[in-house]
Amino acid sequence: MTTLFDPVRFGDIQLANRVVMAPLTRNRATQQTPQALHVEYYRQRAGAGLIITEATQIRPDGQGYFDTPGIHSPEQVAAWKQVTDAVHAAGGRIVVQLWHVGRISLKSLQPGGQQPVSSTHRAAKTRTYAAYGELVPTDAPRALETHELPQLIADYVQAAKNAMAAGFDGVEVHAANGYLLDQFLRDSANDRSDEYGGSIENRARLLIEVMTAVAGAIGAGRTALRLSPVTPSNDIGQDSNPQALFNYVAEQLSPLKLAFLEVVEGATGGPRDNAPFDYAALRRRFSGSYIANNGYDRALALDAVASGRADAVAIGRPFIANPDLVERIRHDLPWAAPQKESFYGGGAEGYTDYPAAELKRA
Ligand SMILES: Cc1cc2nc3c(=O)[nH]c(=O)nc-3n(C[C@H](O)[C@H](O)[C@H](O)COP(=O)(O)O)c2cc1C
Repeated sequence: MTTLFDPVRFGDIQLANRVVMAPLTRNRATQQTPQALHVEYYRQRAGAGLIITEATQIRPDGQGYFDTPGIHSPEQVAAWKQVTDAVHAAGGRIVVQLWHVGRISLKSLQPGGQQPVSSTHRAAKTRTYAAYGELVPTDAPRALETHELPQLIADYVQAAKNAMAAGFDGVEVHAANGYLLDQFLRDSANDRSDEYGGSIENRARLLIEVMTAVAGAIGAGRTALRLSPVTPSNDIGQDSNPQALFNYVAEQLSPLKLAFLEVVEGATGGPRDNAPFDYAALRRRFSGSYIANNGYDRALALDAVASGRADAVAIGRPFIANPDLVERIRHDLPWAAPQKESFYGGGAEGYTDYPAAELKRA
């Protein structure tokens, strides 16, 4: 029987175990660039079979929160190289999550104070962090023109190439949680009349073009995807037929032979059963490996892999306060609770100062 602690290969990436650290935005970059603190934070968590980094903008207008990192400048690539070197030296594997927030942004975070861009001109009725503790309503976007989409795809490709230069084991394209690619996918947010709006085929077109281009540039075995078929995050709204939409996406991406598909099951960070969705049916349509996420505790994680329901489990919030989470799961040690005040922004406190269980017992 396969267990959570068995090694596995996802495309070109060899994992020592099947506990994946889910992507976690922590808002501690300086000038959109990782710092020594990031090196320490990720190094501490290298016991995960795979680390998926915090969401990282592919280009300046992809930013929607204060102090999130990018991967579009030589300085950022050099800074990320310090992170990947530290994780590799500690025996871990790490992919970067490639992000464009779309309309979940503010003019104050945009280059030149411009309007954010999206699939639509309609604003999301939600808020984002302009600065530490400062949640403000998002600014109305402008809809990207059709002729701007090839450049957007090229920018995903360049970010993926930058990730390779920074020593990452691969990339995970972020198409979840109501950000730009999700804004194109769902008919609750996409009101376009060009070939990127309307039918499922049209709404999935941008994502499929991005995945095809990125896989072509860095290799499919180093290219992965995150989806969240029914999350209501960031006022994205429910698609009129999420099963048909996401089944189509999985089917179309299958021939690429991507490294893995990571799926947020249910409402991100909330109920796993907020809306009906058959994840097994989605998985059957996808050729690559399947990583399950959202609300997995020890028992649920062990069972997901033992039963074959998932190839690995991605765990988010528990990794914040438990850098040695894999060892805690292995030895059935208690999980520390994270301090929510230090989730988004701040310094070492609530970031790199959570001890490993061994240290606690000493
Ligand atoms: C502080 C925090 C930051 C997050 N940042 C990201 C992110 O950058 N990208 C992403 O796709 N999901 C992000 N998420 C969602 C998590 O990856 C994950 O889907 C969610 O926490 C549910 O998994 P869990 O129950 O194991 O925590 C974030 C969640 C939290 C709590």
